[in-house]
Amino acid sequence: MTMMMKLVVVVSAVLLLMADSGMTERILTRRRRMLDNPLHAQGIRDPFGSYCERRGGCCEGRNDGCTMPYLDTICYCDLFCNRTVSDCCPDFWGHCLGIQPPPRGKCERNGHWFHSGATYKENCNLCTCSASGQWVCEQHACLIEQDMIQAVNWGKYGWKAANYSQFWGMSLDEGLRYRLGTQRPSRAIMSMNEIQMNMDNNEHLPSYFNAAEKWPGKIHEPLDQGNCAASWAFSTAAVASDRISIQSMGHMTPQLSPQNLISCDTRNQGGCAGGRIDGAWWYLRRRGVVTEECYPFNPPQQTPAEVSRCMMQSRSVGRGKRQATAHCPNVYSYHNEIYQSTPPYRLSSNEKEIMKEIMDNGPVQAILEVHEDFFVYKSGIYRHTGVNAHKAQQYRKHGTHSVRITGWGEETDYNGKTRKYWIAANSWGKNWGEDGYFRIARGENECEIEAFVIGVWGRITMEDMHSHHHHHGRHK
Ligand SMILES: *[C@@H]1O[C@H](CO)[C@@H](O)[C@H](O)[C@H]1NC(C)=O
Ligand SMILES: *[C@@H]1O[C@H](CO)[C@@H](O)[C@H](O)[C@H]1NC(C)=O
Repeated sequence: MTMMMKLVVVVSAVLLLMADSGMTERILTRRRRMLDNPLHAQGIRDPFGSYCERRGGCCEGRNDGCTMPYLDTICYCDLFCNRTVSDCCPDFWGHCLGIQPPPRGKCERNGHWFHSGATYKENCNLCTCSASGQWVCEQHACLIEQDMIQAVNWGKYGWKAANYSQFWGMSLDEGLRYRLGTQRPSRAIMSMNEIQMNMDNNEHLPSYFNAAEKWPGKIHEPLDQGNCAASWAFSTAAVASDRISIQSMGHMTPQLSPQNLISCDTRNQGGCAGGRIDGAWWYLRRRGVVTEECYPFNPPQQTPAEVSRCMMQSRSVGRGKRQATAHCPNVYSYHNEIYQSTPPYRLSSNEKEIMKEIMDNGPVQAILEVHEDFFVYKSGIYRHTGVNAHKAQQYRKHGTHSVRITGWGEETDYNGKTRKYWIAANSWGKNWGEDGYFRIARGENECEIEAFVIGVWGRITMEDMHSHHHHHGRHK
């Protein structure tokens, strides 16, 4: 033998030895007694063999030493093995318990038996009948959790929670991924200068104000973004719609199209996968959008959301005004006027200044940090609760959203304390919250609602006031 060959022989012998010792170890102990690695996955082999009997008895409780060799591994004769049907010896049920072994590969549910591989959905989690005859369920945190709703409703949090069928069956992660959709403004945007408001400290602000009552017919109803994470487009379009209607004194009351923004404002924007409000305002100012009637919202049918093609472009017609270059992408509407805004401005986080702005000029846009309990809000003055504080991290998550603040008020709670609130419109449809609106604690930056507040002006000329008045009349 050459040196080389000898070396090869020695090395193979060592490898064989190592393999052999690994084998021995596996025969002696299954390292972990696990649910997802059942011994009888292919059905019970050697079902009439004598194991626990041959061992001379069974063991109480959990006893990891109460084993017998079984095929190329071991099986258990302790009571603990029965919890999962996963690693009991084949004669455990007959010999130790005196009962039939559980039917192999079948799972019971509501009195019916299902074959392995059968599934059912338990809220947001898929349960599968495993080969060992157990339902094995995913363990995601769901958007609607019964115990969270109960904890909110039994506690004195000042608001009530409810189940929403449109959220039922979604996981919390999906809720955060598909129902919000505003990127946190960058640091540069966050440090945008706030406008200076000349506010008299003694300025009288009423204890209750609602834009919908001051400007009837000019404040637009909340829309439903569905499973489209585009609150960036919904909140921007909604605030601009209200502002244009108020500013034109009702000569124009357009409900601006979020879809126009979603499909066409695509530079650095994610459509139904989230976007930025500064980008949305840039687009409204430079390109403009048509109405919802002209360019209706088309929620994505499947997730992840793909952005549909832009169907509406505009071109300059001088003096900063623009005109649509296409017909409305639907056969019912022919009003394809383009609406634009001026540059948005940032308000300070001072509660009084925000109030004065809303009262003088109309609704404002605000960022909102949405926590898990916000999804089940039904009525009252919202505050993030700690009802999930004792739960695992996966049950306590949050994401950034944007909404439209339309007013404020105050209420006396059960122990005589005054509770101040904002009235704000969400974009989760009218069956959510208080007709699509919610109230949230005011003056304490609850969920960052006062952290980044935006106002804007529509771009309206005297000419608009006349020509649009005509259209408006025709609609009625
Ligand atoms: C063992 O499992 C069977 C089937 O799942 C069950 O009916 C029985 O009550 C269990 N016995 C004990 C002692 O845990
Ligand atoms: C919530 O509503 C869904 C569908 O409407 C229903 O199937 C479910 O049982 C309800 N869940 C709770 C926790 O009430």
